[in-house]
Amino acid sequence: MAGGTSLFLVTVAITTASLNTLGAAVNERPIVGVLLQETSNPSLHGDTYVPTPYIKYLESAGARVVPVRVKKPYSYYKRLFSQINGVLFPGGGDDLIRSEMAKTAKIIYKLAIKANDAGDYFPIWGTCQGFELLTVLTSGENILTNYDAENISLPLVFSPGYNESRLLRNLPSDVYTSLTTENVTLNAHQWGLSPKNYSENQKLSKFYQILSTNKDRKDKEFISTIEAYSYPIYGTQWHPEKNLFIWNPKLVVNHGKSAVRVAQYFADFLVSEARKSQHKFFNKKCEAHSVMENYQPEYQADGSYNGNYYFNYTDSGCI
Ligand SMILES: *[C@@H]1O[C@H](CO)[C@@H](O)[C@H](O)[C@H]1NC(C)=O
Ligand SMILES: *[C@@H]1O[C@H](CO)[C@@H](O)[C@H](O)[C@H]1NC(C)=O
Ligand SMILES: *[C@@H]1O[C@H](CO)[C@@H](O)[C@H](O)[C@H]1NC(C)=O
Ligand SMILES: *[C@@H]1O[C@H](CO)[C@@H](O)[C@H](O)[C@H]1NC(C)=O
Ligand SMILES: *[C@@H]1O[C@H](CO)[C@@H](O)[C@H](O)[C@H]1NC(C)=O
Repeated sequence: MAGGTSLFLVTVAITTASLNTLGAAVNERPIVGVLLQETSNPSLHGDTYVPTPYIKYLESAGARVVPVRVKKPYSYYKRLFSQINGVLFPGGGDDLIRSEMAKTAKIIYKLAIKANDAGDYFPIWGTCQGFELLTVLTSGENILTNYDAENISLPLVFSPGYNESRLLRNLPSDVYTSLTTENVTLNAHQWGLSPKNYSENQKLSKFYQILSTNKDRKDKEFISTIEAYSYPIYGTQWHPEKNLFIWNPKLVVNHGKSAVRVAQYFADFLVSEARKSQHKFFNKKCEAHSVMENYQPEYQADGSYNGNYYFNYTDSGCI
């Protein structure tokens, strides 16, 4: 027990040092991977997809994006990982343990933990399903419970200590005011992590700090924003990207100026984390062939994502 504890402390000390590295080189051409997931009806468009808003969200903050394909050999993930500067796990509706998406996320997550432990900065962000996926990856089990929180925009309720987190300590005061008093965070989930399940699970409570909570329509509390204590890993149960890019009139997305500014704050934060990663594509030609600009999204005016990029398992690329 005592030996285990001191080992844990050593790891924390090393990663905390790397999290706060001052004067580290800045990578001004960050490339972020976005995880693909299986389509429910592959014959329609392709085997896998990623909603367009996640791509635009990252691009609007100064990153380029490459797809993180699923069902590929481990060697592909090793090569890909060492050429990109972070990964976003997007929203969706795939299985959090058995899907190809979940299996791929586990590989990326393990590579990221190992890299960060070695001082090789590598951020991961999870949004909605991606947030839920992070809780499964860290705890090794699914301890989510049901919520009534589809199509509801809320202000965040910050948790004690949020003001010392990396994600929120530099919030401009107008963004703080919008986040805490206006309906600027769109929720679209039927599952979530309760504060009780979080605190009863040591793996989760030692790893993540709760930055905010919210209540669903039935007044049931869920965790809405998290940050790993010792790793550049972040999650929101809500959707910053929707304020910017979801125009489906059937959804209560806030497109006001302050909601857009809130979304942009989080996009900027994630990309600034990616700029701390020094990974680079092995060759420029492959970089140019891999970025999202090579693909055409399909526009769907009334879908939940307003469009997707589709890919097939057999698509290979140069990585
Ligand atoms: C995936 O393969 C199917 C069947 O060949 C094809 O109809 C579809 O257009 C492909 N999708 C993409 C994104 O290439
Ligand atoms: C964060 O808030 C707590 C409680 O209000 C306060 O004691 C602490 O000084 C604040 N930390 C910073 C860095 O502002
Ligand atoms: C925010 O949304 C909630 C739930 O839909 C609603 O009750 C509340 O009046 C809204 N608040 C503002 C400031 O719009
Ligand atoms: C999570 O919470 C639910 C509802 O309170 C409970 O039934 C379940 O046992 C909890 N799971 C774990 C692993 O704590
Ligand atoms: C979303 O909420 C709004 C306002 O409550 C409602 O008018 C709309 O029908 C809802 N959309 C869906 C898809 O449930």
